[in-house]
Amino acid sequence: MKPLPFEPFKIKMVERIPVLERAERDAALEAARYNPFKLSARQVTIDLLTDSGTGSMSDQQWAGIMIGDESYAGSTSYFHLQETVRAITGKKHVIPTHQGRSAENLFFGAILKPGDIVLSNTHFDTTQANVETKGGVAVNIPCRASRDLERTDPFKGDIDLEALEARLSDTTHHVAAVVMTVTNNSNGGQPVSLANLRAAREICLRHGVPLYIDAARYAENCYFIKMREAGYRDLSLTEIAARMFALCDGVLMSAKKDGFVNIGGFFATDSDAIFRRVCELMVVVEGFVTYGGLAGRDMEAIAIGLKEGLDIATLEQRVEQVARLHKRLAQNGVPMIHPPGGHAVYLNANAICRHLPIEQLRGWALSCELYRRGGVRAVEIGSVMFAKTDPATGKTIYPDNDLVRLAIPRRVYTDRHIDFVAETIIDCVHHATEIPGYEITYAPDHLKHFLAEFRPVAN
Ligand code: F0G
Repeated sequence: MKPLPFEPFKIKMVERIPVLERAERDAALEAARYNPFKLSARQVTIDLLTDSGTGSMSDQQWAGIMIGDESYAGSTSYFHLQETVRAITGKKHVIPTHQGRSAENLFFGAILKPGDIVLSNTHFDTTQANVETKGGVAVNIPCRASRDLERTDPFKGDIDLEALEARLSDTTHHVAAVVMTVTNNSNGGQPVSLANLRAAREICLRHGVPLYIDAARYAENCYFIKMREAGYRDLSLTEIAARMFALCDGVLMSAKKDGFVNIGGFFATDSDAIFRRVCELMVVVEGFVTYGGLAGRDMEAIAIGLKEGLDIATLEQRVEQVARLHKRLAQNGVPMIHPPGGHAVYLNANAICRHLPIEQLRGWALSCELYRRGGVRAVEIGSVMFAKTDPATGKTIYPDNDLVRLAIPRRVYTDRHIDFVAETIIDCVHHATEIPGYEITYAPDHLKHFLAEFRPVAN
């Protein structure tokens, strides 16, 4: 009998989960001004706000923490990290960074001039912000299949190849780089196929534009290629990763995801010129090139975590756990993005809360309700995060989709926890018409969702 995909680990240390009464949760949410970001973790029962930096490290990683070398220059742990990243990505130069967005800051700082365009299957929001703060323009060209939330195409994370060809043929604007985000976090955590990457690479080469991979969840992407794309079933994840990275000029990585650590990242490139510019920038903002804003022990843990991240049993359990949640919700008719992504389930709040007018913030309302009913914390990816004000009319333009993401941390929750999350969501959906709308009482100008305050609206 095949014993997997049960958890391929034993639990060596435990942390008590807080369970509050409904009245306590209602009071906590009110005190947090109806913004789940402002809740204390001690008030949250199952925390699915993010899978970034929230995973459990292994005994091997903790052992690595003890042997981390803290030398300022030439740390042994740096060379361990460099050797590991080179083995996985094949890239010549490796620079540690304190997290993914810092790799973005260095890379775009090195390559962008004001007005330059960066194209992507979808920029993650920090990637977009790092392009924009350098005066660049971030343009998303996701594949058309991803527009339909219900479609079950296997690679809805792909880039739109026709749009890519058209954009690169238009020489009125300078495209400085193409960034492929694998898996495509802002587009349902959906994977990118090797066929799409290869075709994108061919177009980029023809137009002389560098292609970089945002590899935060590259191991999950490799797993999906193995399971969903014809011709790769017999390859190991390491072999698939090698094929994927052979199609790019460099890599931006938040190791807080598929590096299985609580902090860290790296930048890797084949370009000597970009490497040199990034080194110059980084000594000013991150630290010397062999520690990049990290402790030696952190680099040791990343080197070990990156290898664990490509372990097939680990990936199988992880992706199957997300699929388990997705399946239970689908069986109960819960509207969401199909098919299941790699790290999260994305609920379709526009469909679930259609009793509320759009301006009463459907996704936000649903995320508050998940907390009130089950102590589950999720994140709205919708009207609060993305609504813009039309400068001409002063009217609010709402995004097409109002989603709630439930991101599952690595090696943290058991299937029983996940089943409880499913029950909480189903309970919310069954009582959807009782969910109140919300209005904003305070909001900063940028990245509203972190700090905004709300109140329920009486309907
Ligand atoms: N790229 C992707 C695809 C990401 O999902 C993230 C972070 C980053 C880059 C930035 O990395 O946080 O290490 O600076 N995503 C987290 C999330 C925050 O919740 O999805 P970072």
